[in-house]
Amino acid sequence: MGITILGTGRYLPDYVASNQEYETFLDTSDEWIVTRTGMRERRIALDTPVWKMGELAARQALEAAGVTPDEIDLILCTTVTADYRYPSAACLIQGGLGAGRAFAMDVAAACTGSVYALDLARRYLETGDVDTVLLVSTEALSQATDYTDRGAAILFGDGAAAAVLQKGEGLFASALFSEPDLNRHLYCPLPRQALPFGGGIPAREEKALTFMNGREVYKFAVRVMPAAARAACEKAGIAVEELDLIIPHQANLRIIETAAKALQIPMEKICVNIQKYGNTSSASIMLCLDEVIREGRIAPKDQICLVGFGAGFTYGAVVLEYQNKP
Ligand code: UT7
Repeated sequence: MGITILGTGRYLPDYVASNQEYETFLDTSDEWIVTRTGMRERRIALDTPVWKMGELAARQALEAAGVTPDEIDLILCTTVTADYRYPSAACLIQGGLGAGRAFAMDVAAACTGSVYALDLARRYLETGDVDTVLLVSTEALSQATDYTDRGAAILFGDGAAAAVLQKGEGLFASALFSEPDLNRHLYCPLPRQALPFGGGIPAREEKALTFMNGREVYKFAVRVMPAAARAACEKAGIAVEELDLIIPHQANLRIIETAAKALQIPMEKICVNIQKYGNTSSASIMLCLDEVIREGRIAPKDQICLVGFGAGFTYGAVVLEYQNKP
């Protein structure tokens, strides 16, 4: 059993942070950022909450799908930058949409979130317990970025994208993984308050912002992206070269190019929008999906591979036959 992608949508904040703006507060340059990452601009949510961006992307996806909020059975939201510890972003989006029949939950798999959530959506659809899933990926990395750390600050941007999914006939296979051993290289702690117990336990000194060892993450990424894509193709019973399009997590253009080379896939078959939005964590693959559908870059029956990696460390890929009608 596969999935039908009835419609997709997006929300991108208006504020554009160019490489030149980073030069005003960091020891960096447009030339360094473009050469090392392929990024030129990112969007920054100056005052729109993460769940609200998700709701706005979801509204567009529902409109494209011709589905009303009360037809949604399940809302899955992926985010590493939720506005609240609780309630979940998914429940806040549900409230914003007025999707009264649905149940809603967040899926935490960092930048691989949308790949994990697609797999979960398909499994729920397969049981027949739900007919329509709304998948939303929404992120404000600007809230988790240390803007004094030039190695990481220039990478991240904000945005949201969504898809309305139903059961389909075509191919679907997924290969998901996690490797916690590398966690020290990429993490973002939550703040901890001082406690009045045990004589007063002081709050943690650590900044509640992203710590990243870029080189280690890079090495991990170029190893696992091709491995995950190959594993999903193998499960799907197709050769990598049969894929019509690959949608990789947009972390660094050099990572994408290296993975493409390892897979022997020409760059024309790879979706890249990193120059416009930077790394939007779990939203990046969904923003690409929305873009390729809107631009007509994929047609029904095309075989596409969505592949991601991120903190955890999580990684994985989904191979599916694109279908847009039930
Ligand atoms: O969603 C997953 C999250 N993260 C990632 O995927 C990140 C993966 N890693 C990367 O994309 C790359 O490692 C970076 C873009 C973060 C860094 O690129 P790099 O080619 O690995 O650079 P590097 O860390 O090896 O640093 C090279 C030099 C260093 O200077 P020295 O020691 O050679 O003098 C850095 O201090 O570049 C320097 N540098 C910068 N220079 C100008 C680091 N960041 C900057 C900067 N501007 N923004």
